[in-house]
Amino acid sequence: MTQVNNTAKYDYSGAQVLVTGGTQGIGNAIANRFSEAGANVFITGTRADTSEYENDLSAFTYLQLEVTDLDAIKQLPEKLDNRLDVLVNNAGASLPGGQSEWDHDVFEQSVNINLNSAFHISHVCYPMLKKSELQGGAAIVSIASLTSFLANDFVPGYGAAKAGLAQLMKTFAITWAKDGIRANSIAAGMTQTRMTQMVQMIPEMNEPVLERTPMSRWGQPEEIAGCAIYLASSDASFLTGQMIVVDGGFSIVG
Ligand SMILES: NC(=O)c1ccc[n+]([C@@H]2O[C@H](COP(=O)([O-])OP(=O)(O)OC[C@H]3O[C@@H](n4cnc5c(N)ncnc54)[C@H](OP(=O)(O)O)[C@@H]3O)[C@@H](O)[C@H]2O)c1
Repeated sequence: MTQVNNTAKYDYSGAQVLVTGGTQGIGNAIANRFSEAGANVFITGTRADTSEYENDLSAFTYLQLEVTDLDAIKQLPEKLDNRLDVLVNNAGASLPGGQSEWDHDVFEQSVNINLNSAFHISHVCYPMLKKSELQGGAAIVSIASLTSFLANDFVPGYGAAKAGLAQLMKTFAITWAKDGIRANSIAAGMTQTRMTQMVQMIPEMNEPVLERTPMSRWGQPEEIAGCAIYLASSDASFLTGQMIVVDGGFSIVG
């Protein structure tokens, strides 16, 4: 039987893309996909420079950015030469510092990392996105989560933040449509990255994930990247304010 390679080939030559948290996991897969499609890709991470990461990040321009630092966020336009076509709000973390999100300070920290950062970064990037001439419109893609709509008792801050993040994209979608900017989110399901390493490693946590997922496996970062690059493309030119669920069917099980 002939194997058909039906992976979409996009052409982002000339486009400037910013992926927050592009050093590893989902953000890194997204940055790679845009870079392979010819975009000029900027990524952010928490460490001083790329030599502090195991991944080869040489295809990208690296910016150190703690996403809760508003002063640093305000410097983004200068660092991006005042030009941006696609913003991917991907940086995020649950249980910051490995602490309980039922702690008042940790709850706030989680909301700052997973929601407030996306508001500040998008807001600062808005004038650049407004100037974009990307076919299909400039795009904001934010990485939400199944916790955007499924309740859990262990990451209250993360869940509330991810619900807010999906809603925030709807607000941007209706506010900035007139400026030719589309804003969507991806509710990523259980995806194999550093963030979920503990769940993957502990059988009592891993098995229920596989049992509940109709596709009986974890998602790969590249499978989220495929959705992100589509959402930013002109194939999605009439698609805005939506949350797309990419989870192997996890969330549809009754
Ligand atoms: N994995 C999943 O199952 C899953 C499911 C739903 C949603 N998500 C979301 O997908 C996004 C990526 O997660 P991932 O699974 O790929 O995790 P990951 O491999 O741990 O990567 C997280 C990325 O975010 C950056 N980051 C974390 N905290 C930051 C902070 N305070 N300031 C700046 N950058 C920060 C990290 O930078 P450093 O490398 O410098 O630490 C890294 O680049 C997150 O928003 C996460 O909530 C993941």
